[in-house]
Amino acid sequence: MEKYISNIKTPKISIAPMVDKSHRHFRYFCRIMNKEALLYSEMVTAQAIINGDLDRILYFREDEGSVALQIAASNPEDAYKAVKLAEKYNYSEINLNCGCPSDRVSGNLMGAALMSDKNLVYEILSAMKEATSKPITIKHRIGIDGTGVIDNKNNKIIMSGYEDLLDFLETVSKAQPDRYTVHARSAILKGLSPKDNREIPPLDYDIVYKLKQDFSYLNIEINGGFKSLESIEDALTKVDGVMIGRAAYEDCYLLANLNKINNKNKSTESISRGEVIKKYIPYVIEELEKGSNVHALAAPLQSLFQGQKGSKKFKQLLSSSNVKPETLIEILNNILEVMPPDILWN
Ligand SMILES: Cc1cc2nc3c(=O)[nH]c(=O)nc-3n(C[C@H](O)[C@H](O)[C@H](O)COP(=O)(O)O)c2cc1C
Repeated sequence: MEKYISNIKTPKISIAPMVDKSHRHFRYFCRIMNKEALLYSEMVTAQAIINGDLDRILYFREDEGSVALQIAASNPEDAYKAVKLAEKYNYSEINLNCGCPSDRVSGNLMGAALMSDKNLVYEILSAMKEATSKPITIKHRIGIDGTGVIDNKNNKIIMSGYEDLLDFLETVSKAQPDRYTVHARSAILKGLSPKDNREIPPLDYDIVYKLKQDFSYLNIEINGGFKSLESIEDALTKVDGVMIGRAAYEDCYLLANLNKINNKNKSTESISRGEVIKKYIPYVIEELEKGSNVHALAAPLQSLFQGQKGSKKFKQLLSSSNVKPETLIEILNNILEVMPPDILWN
């Protein structure tokens, strides 16, 4: 394994790249609750950056703090161009997606399918490194099961187990990625929807922990299934960081509670749900004035009261039929009046 010691700052927590979820309003909302986490963009294909409206695709507000851009690419040339074009936006790092099992992505030889061609991954990462002085990171799976880059028609490629993962990383590490985010579930590239592949096959954290144990100089972040402060704290004793995906939109207030990480007596005050809403209101006003989509602005709020008294009522108030550009601020102010005060302000 290439012994490259990156001087990148690894945040203890990051919020995963998630298409249709981790857009800039969601990230702003996350940032209100957690100042330290690294926030990822949705995956953007290199081709979309090369051919698209850059400001529409890549613009984000400075007050989102540290944001990593995730790209999907199938060749070094596109990856190089996309990273160069993204240079003028203030992303703190650029990440290569080698984990997405979607046919639309893997059929185009991107995402998890790339793991079947370690040399290509090496070349793409090297091109990204050449294009920028920013940190370049990779998000990949512990393995893949299905078709790969080399022969995506008939041959079933299975890459599973620690030895196969090491074989992949030995080549990839030569490109000196600054961090490895390892999704602890194999990607199934045929016969399972991406949604089902988020539950099947089972997670295998031990393979990720072993990687860090054997190569302590690598910057390793684990991903998959983290939903509680306790499980995240436990993982942080074994790896450098934890990436949180679905929990960030299924139970978003977790992000406020994550400020308690490593605080032995857990006394750190988290921002209250009421304060979160109060801080989000001026943002919503500004963004509505700029013409931002009202449903995208309302979406990140949906799980703020998850598991709490009044959660159902909260969701009803924010239902898509109620939410309109002329009603959203009124709804948010109303929520501050009608939700149980002990839940709003504690
Ligand atoms: C709605 C949705 C969209 C996703 N989009 C991406 C993506 O764009 N890029 C990526 O690398 N992973 C994507 N993923 C996978 C997540 O980043 C993460 O690896 C996965 O959800 C496992 O983490 P979790 O168990 O904490 O949710 C997506 C997941 C979900 C649920």
